[in-house]
Amino acid sequence: MPLLWLAQKQNGNFTSLAAMKKIAKILEVPDMAVYEVATFYTMYNRTPVGKYHLQMCGTTPCMVRGAKEVINTALDHLGVEKNHVTADGLFCVTEVECLGACANAPMMQVNNEWFYEDLDTKSIINVIEQFRRGEEPKKGPQINRNNAEGPMGRTSLHGYESKPITRDFRAAKKEWEEEKAKAAAAPK
Ligand code: FES
Repeated sequence: MPLLWLAQKQNGNFTSLAAMKKIAKILEVPDMAVYEVATFYTMYNRTPVGKYHLQMCGTTPCMVRGAKEVINTALDHLGVEKNHVTADGLFCVTEVECLGACANAPMMQVNNEWFYEDLDTKSIINVIEQFRRGEEPKKGPQINRNNAEGPMGRTSLHGYESKPITRDFRAAKKEWEEEKAKAAAAPK
């Protein structure tokens, strides 16, 4: 429900009751239909989470790579408990399940959008402090590596990126539309 997502973004990362009611009205659906979505998906925050919602992965691959220390460092540095917003309204740390970046563990997602990977007790503070200053921390690995490449660098798909795209998408679309029209015209 992109509208709900937009409402949350515009409301300081918080899906309020008023926002849900408004969306139900816009979409002309019962309020309950919107509540169901907002309460089912964890991406919707039903309580305020501050300006920067630090969603820190605590699942096994991140845990064995030091997630516990990284999470505790963030909490100590901010002086809050998990799921509580800092007094200045800027941060909230939530422990979440695997976010699919295990190769770059430990990692965190911020505001459901930005990924910070290969974290340690130093880099997590660095990222937090950049947010506090209103800066945009470098996304992705916080160590010197490219994306999720291992210590040997890129070992597969060499040359793949340099191949030009040769497929004629206009022709493919035309063909698909002709087939669709033919199927629709065929006797049932
Ligand atoms: Fe942390 Fe998968 S376990 S991203």
